[in-house]
Formats: sequence, structure tokens, C-alpha cells
Amino acid sequence: MLYPLSYGGQVMRVQVYPNRAVTSAPAHLPSPSSPSMVPVPHRSVLAPNYRPLDITLRSGEGVWLTDIHGHRYLDCLAGYSALNFGHSHPQLVEAAKEQASRLTLVSRAFNHDLLLPYAEALTMLTDTETMLPMNTGAEAVETAIKAARKWGYLVKGVPEDQADIIVAANAFHGRTTTIISFSTDPSARDHYGPYTPGFTVVPYDDADAVAAAITPYTVAILIEPIQGEAGVIIPAPSYLPSLRALATDNDVLLIADEIQSGLARTGYTLDEERVGVAADLITLGKALGGGLMPVSAVVGRHDVLSLMTVGTHGSTFGGNPMACRIGMEVVAMLSTGEFQQRARDLEGFLGERLAELVDDGLISSSRHVGLWAGIDANPALGLTGRQICEGMQSRGVLAKDTHGSTIRFAPPLVIERDELATALDALADTLHAARS
Ligand SMILES: Cc1ncc(COP(=O)(O)O)c(C=O)c1O
Repeated sequence: MLYPLSYGGQVMRVQVYPNRAVTSAPAHLPSPSSPSMVPVPHRSVLAPNYRPLDITLRSGEGVWLTDIHGHRYLDCLAGYSALNFGHSHPQLVEAAKEQASRLTLVSRAFNHDLLLPYAEALTMLTDTETMLPMNTGAEAVETAIKAARKWGYLVKGVPEDQADIIVAANAFHGRTTTIISFSTDPSARDHYGPYTPGFTVVPYDDADAVAAAITPYTVAILIEPIQGEAGVIIPAPSYLPSLRALATDNDVLLIADEIQSGLARTGYTLDEERVGVAADLITLGKALGGGLMPVSAVVGRHDVLSLMTVGTHGSTFGGNPMACRIGMEVVAMLSTGEFQQRARDLEGFLGERLAELVDDGLISSSRHVGLWAGIDANPALGLTGRQICEGMQSRGVLAKDTHGSTIRFAPPLVIERDELATALDALADTLHAARS
């Protein structure tokens, strides 16, 4: 079948087969930034592993996004917290431009002038000893898992191939085959087996369950300080300290996955600070790349990360000059404390407005910390999370559902109080409209 496809005012013919598309493109395609580019009218060229809102965005600045028709939207997802500093933050953009014209990639086969300064800056910011740079969050988690297993065999003395890591139900740590092997979400896991062994899943926010699961083969407890994808589930303040004590007492590593909770989202550089804990290894990602590119890292104990010796682990892009440059700017921005403060300053207002929605019967419950909230719509309204997000979209606010009728709310930390009010008004109006 042939579909005409208008691309920058030129028409090309797209031949669509069930699982692949063959295009005969015009000789000179316009640049993707051409304002006349229209969205592709069929989807077969793109694997359907996402179902985005029906919107095509073209530019962003701060908390605001603009679509191809010129409509503006307030971003209340912030790239799943990768955009803590907002879209196109001038300091980050300038740094990226300057670095792009100087040096972007050398691979770890050669040193470059930013790698060590970046490592020093990031470890200083996080009060850790050593860092190992990667790219995506899932890679950082994989790295922490590998480091913990290696520590288990070489230092703790666990028999080879017997290491076990305790993880939590409903966690989200990424999409690799090993990570989804211990996911309890069927949509993330089903039909991707055979699964990687070596993980014990226990209920979240249940330190007794962790204690009961520890064996002589346990090498680590891997935990999100707050479960983001699960709906911003905030455990009891004693949870992480209890895990810290269990880890110390049983010669087990505590790994905090701060890829979403870290880097100012909850009002602290690391969320573990909020509850007075220092993990042995911490995974960082998302906002570490300033929303410009994937940048992740594992930071933590030198005696553990130093086991990742020459040739035993690596990444072509991990620690590249561009990533280091952006990471250093992010560290510099976080070092001022401004973004942590912004999240803490608006936390009270966010909580008050959510409490009002509970009082009005529009939401049944909510959880929030810093500028991060999980909001459960009142089931009596009969709205799915998707429908709520569509309602908010029609009111100029972009948010994302998690599961069922739960909305996650995580605007860029540069949001102003009146903009936050606008976003919450859009939520309230959407829910009111369903009731009337
Ligand atoms: C806590 C946590 N860990 C790991 C990841 C995976 O990060 P990435 O999507 O960059 O691989 C995510 C992503 O949402 C996350 O929230």
C-alpha cells in the first residue's frame, strides 16, 4: 500500500508493509526543525512501545513547551525528572554549545581534560568517594548490580554465582533484561524471559521483610528511596535508616537508586539526606544530563567501585567530554542549593492544594515531597489516569499517569508558584468536569 506523506511541503511515497516501511525520500529533505514539517500520519515506522498524548512538541523553554501549532503547555512531567532545571536552561545550553565545538567524544581509551574534574565535582557534591560514569539510568543500575556481585564474591566470600540481591516489589529500575527479571510489573516483564536469577523480591517499606530475606549469600539491598513509577510511594522515615542498619549488621551493601529521587527533586541533593542515611552505592541519572543528553553514574564506596578493574566493565559513551561538561554544570548548579530550596519552598503549597482536592472529594489520596507528587483521583469519578492527563492537556498542562487513575506530578524545579497554581487548577478543573 502506498501512503502519500507530506514532509516539509514535499510529498514522498511511503510503502507500508505489515512490519516495515520503505520510503522513497525526496532528494533534499528539510531539516527536522522546519516549521512546515507535519507529523507522520501513520505509525508503522515506529514500534508501538509508547502511547504518548496526542500532541507534537517543537520547542521548550523553562517550564513551557510549544507544539507545532504554536500552542503552549506547562510541563508537569519534566521528562520523568530528567528536566529538573527546565527546558533549554541557558547555562546548560551555553556549556553544551561550547563543548560541542571543542570536544565531544574520545572513548575511555584516552583521557580527556574533564573526566577527573567531573568525577571530583560529582563525588564532592554527593559526599562519596568514587564514581563510575555511564549513560542511561538502567546502565547505572546494571553497573551497581555488577559491582555488588563482584564485591560479594571477591570481598565477602560468597560462593561464585550464588550472590543474591534483595529488591522491592513494585520497584522500577529500568528496562534491561536483568532489571526486568526482578520487576513485579507484568507489562515490563512478560515474554522477556529467560530471566536473570539472583534477586529476592520483598514488599516495599517493610524492613522486617528485608531482614527475613537476608542470607549469607545476600550481597546487596537495592532500593528506591521513593518509588517514583509506582506512584511516588514515600516510605516511613525509618525505612531507609532500618535498611542501613540491616546492611551494616549483615555485611551487605545498601544501594540507593536515586535516578529519579535525587538531584533536588525532593528538596535535597540526594533524597537519602532527607532521612539521614548514606548508602554504599548510589545510582544517578536523568537530571544529571540536564535534560540535554543521557548521563548517569554510580557513586559510592571506593573499595567497591575499585573492583571494576581494567577491561571488566565499560561503555563507549560513558564519561564522554560532552557528558562530563554538562554533568559539571549540573553539579555547579546544584552546589548553590537553589534548586533544592525551590523544591522545599513549594512543597507546602503543593501539599495544601492537594489537601483541598482531597477535601473536595476530587482525589482520594496523594503523596508528595519537594516538587514531586503521586495523585490518586477519586475512583467514583470514573476517570482513568490517561483521561485525566488528556483533560489537563486540553487546559494547557502536560502530565503523565502511572497506573490506573494515579497521576504523577513532577514539574521542572524552575516552576514559579503561580505556574504551579495554574497546573493544579487544570487538574482540579478536569476532575470537577467529570463530576458535573
Ligand atoms: C528509579 C529509576 N531507576 C532507573 C530508571 C531507568 O532510567 P533510564 O530510563 O534512563 O534507563 C528510572 C527511570 O524512570 C528510574 O525512575
